[in-house]
Amino acid sequence: MKAPALLQNVAAISQLLLDQVATTVFDPTTQRIHVTGDHAFVPPGQDDYRGPCPGLNALANHNFIPHNGVATIDQLISASEEVFGLGNDMASLKAIYGTAISASGDLIHMSIGQAPSPAIAPLDLNVPETVVPGGLDFTHNSFESDASPTREDKYQSANGDASNMSLPLFIELYNRQSGIPDDQVNYSLSTLADHRAQRVQDSIMQDPLFFLSPFDGLLLTGFTYNIIFTLMANRSAEHAEGRLDRDTLMSFFGVTRDVYSSAFNYNRGWERIPDIWYRRPIDDPYTIEKSNVDLLGAIQKHPDLLNKYAIGGNTNGVNTHRSVSIKELTNGTYTLQNLPDGNNLSCLALIGGSLLCPEWLKGYYVHYNTTVMNLIRELPPLFASLNCPTLSSMDPRFFSDMFAGFNASLPYIH
Ligand code: HEM
Ligand SMILES: *[C@@H]1O[C@H](CO)[C@@H](O)[C@H](O)[C@H]1NC(C)=O
Ligand SMILES: *[C@@H]1O[C@H](CO)[C@@H](O)[C@H](O)[C@H]1NC(C)=O
Ligand SMILES: *[C@@H]1O[C@H](CO)[C@@H](O)[C@H](O)[C@H]1NC(C)=O
Ligand SMILES: *[C@@H]1O[C@H](CO)[C@@H](O)[C@H](O)[C@H]1NC(C)=O
Ligand SMILES: *[C@@H]1O[C@H](CO)[C@@H](O)[C@H](O)[C@H]1NC(C)=O
Ligand SMILES: *[C@@H]1O[C@H](CO)[C@@H](O)[C@H](O)[C@H]1NC(C)=O
Ligand SMILES: *[C@@H]1O[C@H](CO)[C@@H](O)[C@H](O)[C@H]1NC(C)=O
Repeated sequence: MKAPALLQNVAAISQLLLDQVATTVFDPTTQRIHVTGDHAFVPPGQDDYRGPCPGLNALANHNFIPHNGVATIDQLISASEEVFGLGNDMASLKAIYGTAISASGDLIHMSIGQAPSPAIAPLDLNVPETVVPGGLDFTHNSFESDASPTREDKYQSANGDASNMSLPLFIELYNRQSGIPDDQVNYSLSTLADHRAQRVQDSIMQDPLFFLSPFDGLLLTGFTYNIIFTLMANRSAEHAEGRLDRDTLMSFFGVTRDVYSSAFNYNRGWERIPDIWYRRPIDDPYTIEKSNVDLLGAIQKHPDLLNKYAIGGNTNGVNTHRSVSIKELTNGTYTLQNLPDGNNLSCLALIGGSLLCPEWLKGYYVHYNTTVMNLIRELPPLFASLNCPTLSSMDPRFFSDMFAGFNASLPYIH
């Protein structure tokens, strides 16, 4: 492609090769997700579960996971990988953690929404529980988090429903590209970071029990913003690196627009894969390491997302935000200064998630250490390659002493 003279320069050749590797290649055959036949869109019926995750709702509506919304860990992992290009490490982490923390009745099946009927979700008598098995709706602050892109906080809205989409919040996101011509619109990572910075302020100002744990505040919350672009953007020959336009955004969030009045409409749980949609390249799964780069990108644009708001919440009603000292929390292993290095940011989130989850699990499962913890012990190997500086424990009093929002999420009333 370049002038042949370049070929005489070894350095230039290797640079050319590097450029080729770095260039995203669009392959319409492998990237097209066909949504006809068995995978045609079928909206949820009365007995189908749908919840806070638009990705899983869409997978269920298109029968990539069972239409009733109760799926096995393996089904959740393979559908997330095959349809959206989520990395195996993140898909496994989410599916395993989600199944454990939603009080699954058999530690195999997970409801993507409300507590499932025992007729659909099997109960394993070897996994006795002190609570009724739940679903993703049940996982407030242990998984489902505050300051989400289009869901209100559990203790922000009057009805405590953090799973249903808020149409006003969706419209706020949608309007972040207002005035831009249709063929240039792109809900980019940078646009999504702006939305996130605002949503954190919303939570501080409107949710007296606002709280972000290490897992949510360092990783999960930012990740859910970033995957709106990285997993939902449409790919084409022209934009192999992806462009997320208005129609694709609306479709994945289950929103339609009246052609005459321009009014937006949301049918709960109707998240839909567009008829003509191309996923991210097959050989470019969105792994923990790739996600870490994008998490740092958001922090670069809005440094307070790390410096002030990563771990912590309101301490005494709205507008009383305080953050937890990362240095004190980790006994000096991690600091605000070394978190942006390598994968340290994701490391602390993942280790924090593994160390803190017994606070919920021991209240849900009778013999938690010999049942659900065996599942949780499958998580650290997923991120072993990150070579994370280890922590032996994490004291929950860093959260319970200050944040009523943490206490409110625990299985026992304090
Ligand atoms: C095993 C797989 C998955 C599990 C267990 C899972 C679970 C969740 C949970 C618990 C939330 C709520 C987090 C919050 O409150 O902010 C969430 C949100 C979200 N998920 Fe998933 N998810 C999975 C896969 C996916 C995939 C494949 C996509 C594809 C794009 C996706 C896209 C999203 C988005 C965009 C949100 C934010 C929703 C909003 O508030 O606007 N997820 N997911
Ligand atoms: C869900 O949210 C939509 C849009 O904000 C709203 O119109 C609808 O009433 C809500 N549905 C339920 C069941 O709460
Ligand atoms: C859209 O935004 C993404 C992520 O920020 C960027 O990588 C991509 O190049 C943008 N696409 C276009 C067509 O501008
Ligand atoms: C996705 O991109 C393709 C071209 O690769 C285009 O034909 C299609 O209309 C786009 N889909 C949406 C929903 O924008
Ligand atoms: C914290 O580090 C200090 C000094 O290295 C050590 O003496 C102490 O035992 C550690 N505390 C915990 C809770 O790990
Ligand atoms: C990560 O944190 C550790 C301390 O726990 C620090 O020594 C290291 O330099 C940081 N950066 C990388 C790339 O690991
Ligand atoms: C929990 O189980 C692990 C692994 O089987 C074991 O090493 C540990 O001692 C157990 N902890 C308690 C408190 O029983
Ligand atoms: C949370 O509960 C613990 C244990 O009951 C209690 O000591 C603490 O004061 C509570 N925290 C807040 C902020 O209310």
